[in-house]
Amino acid sequence: MDLGLAGKVALVLGASRGLGAASARALAAEGAQVHAISRSGSVEDGALQGFAADLSIPQGVDALLSHIAAIGRVDVLVANTGGPRRGTAQGVPGSEWLAVFQALAVSQFRIADAVLPGMVKRGWGRIITIGSSGIEQPIPDLALSNAVRGSVAGWSKTLAAEVAKHGVTVNMVLPGRIDTDRLREGDASKARGSGLDLEHVQAASRAGIPAGRYGKPDEFGAVVAFLASVQASYVTGSMVRVDGGLIRSI
Ligand SMILES: NC(=O)c1ccc[n+]([C@@H]2O[C@H](COP(=O)([O-])OP(=O)(O)OC[C@H]3O[C@@H](n4cnc5c(N)ncnc54)[C@H](OP(=O)(O)O)[C@@H]3O)[C@@H](O)[C@H]2O)c1
Repeated sequence: MDLGLAGKVALVLGASRGLGAASARALAAEGAQVHAISRSGSVEDGALQGFAADLSIPQGVDALLSHIAAIGRVDVLVANTGGPRRGTAQGVPGSEWLAVFQALAVSQFRIADAVLPGMVKRGWGRIITIGSSGIEQPIPDLALSNAVRGSVAGWSKTLAAEVAKHGVTVNMVLPGRIDTDRLREGDASKARGSGLDLEHVQAASRAGIPAGRYGKPDEFGAVVAFLASVQASYVTGSMVRVDGGLIRSI
């Protein structure tokens, strides 16, 4: 299927590794011109154009907004960044809540606001935010992520209704457990904390997934590319799970 992305300009955040990099690869494979943003600015694939910006701080977002102005046009935004630390809901300092809200929410809202006027003017655009299964089924010991991503979900759904009439769709993709650096670091941290060996922790984690395995980053990127496609023009305000059946609710 031709996804109609040839010649479209895509901006993918958190794209040097993991889910962002897989999304960037999938869009580039469909002929999109892809700008891949991360702190390092490194790219896995020569077809991608890297740019270094730390999206956890306002100055990094300012630098990216100048870069967006220089690019001149963005048709597809994949909003993503590194996830917060593990931990409980209790005892988080106010300054840390604010820092995580800045990194995961405010930065992405500001970047979306910068690309939306052009999308609305051209009558076509895609805003795709990478969330987490924790939005629909909170993950124990990931309170910062569960809490702040819930706010991002509220933003995404509200925005979807505002811009649908302009041909701009706004969706979230919810990863369950996809095999990336972050997932491996999380498993290693659980193994250290519990005193169990890593293989035991991973086997228990896989056993909780109906598919019986972790997802591959390319399986995730393919869903992002579909949501960016011309064919997905009537999909908006959705939460699309890529989780091998992990989330138990309907
Ligand atoms: N993998 C999963 O199964 C899963 C499940 C649920 C939710 N998630 C969430 O989905 C997001 C992506 O996950 P992932 O597994 O791909 O994570 P990852 O392997 O840690 O990759 C994160 C990417 O974001 C970039 N990044 C990190 N901090 C950044 C910053 N301050 N500014 C700009 N770029 C930054 C990293 O590159 P640099 O280091 O070069 O900056 C890297 O390219 C995370 O928020 C994660 O919590 C993932």
